[in-house]
Amino acid sequence: MQGIFISMEGPDGSGKSTQMELLKTYLETKGYEIIITREPGGTKISEAIREIILNKEYSEMGYMTEALLYASARAQLVSEVIKPALDSGKAVISDRFVDSSAVYQGMARGLGVDNVYKINEFAIQGVMPDLTIHLDLPAKLGIGRKNEQKELDRMELETLDFHVKVAEGYRELAGKSPDRIYTIDATLSIEDIHKIIVDKIEEILNNMQI
Ligand code: ADP
Ligand code: TYD
Repeated sequence: MQGIFISMEGPDGSGKSTQMELLKTYLETKGYEIIITREPGGTKISEAIREIILNKEYSEMGYMTEALLYASARAQLVSEVIKPALDSGKAVISDRFVDSSAVYQGMARGLGVDNVYKINEFAIQGVMPDLTIHLDLPAKLGIGRKNEQKELDRMELETLDFHVKVAEGYRELAGKSPDRIYTIDATLSIEDIHKIIVDKIEEILNNMQI
């Protein structure tokens, strides 16, 4: 049986990492065997590519270089982790996947969503999430949260206008794929969002009987 693939998406600071941590603990406590990963990253090589992409010293990085680096990190993650897990019937949950490239590089950078999917076709080998959880948060709030949490990286240091395009881009994408993308209001409390995510994921995992 083919496994199930769930991705978590949203602007910087929308609470993805917080929710992934809570979800991981919850699922482990319940005894589910789940593969948890993140993008860019999730393998030794992809984490090394992440260091290059997010390094704020590289302010001269071209948008195409950026798009290709995200796709390279993704190609390694898909071949090394996601595809083998799905082929052996496991459930995989990833903090970000190709929708991030569609929104950040395709829409906010202006490379075009179709061009970005074209680059990524090679990287994802036909793998697409069965369900995507979209944490919807106004850009200003997200960047404000990040600013309080840590030193901002190369992407987070982008203009507010860029982050507004990201937040709007996610809404547009979600509107186009209502069956796959499930939007949650990320201004809710951490606990309330966790409950909504757990309900949605339990529904799917129960059907899978893993
Ligand atoms: P992301 O991974 O999407 O960038 P994080 O999970 O790192 O976001 O959250 C960014 C910051 O916002 C953290 O300091 C976190 O504690 C805080 N945070 C996360 N979710 C919420 C929430 N629902 N309400 C208020 N603050 C939150
Ligand atoms: P993330 O790990 O979510 O950052 P943080 O945990 O610091 O909030 O993602 C790293 C950054 O990379 C984030 O700004 C979104 C961006 N990104 C893209 O622009 N394109 C992509 O394809 C991916 C996966 C991420």
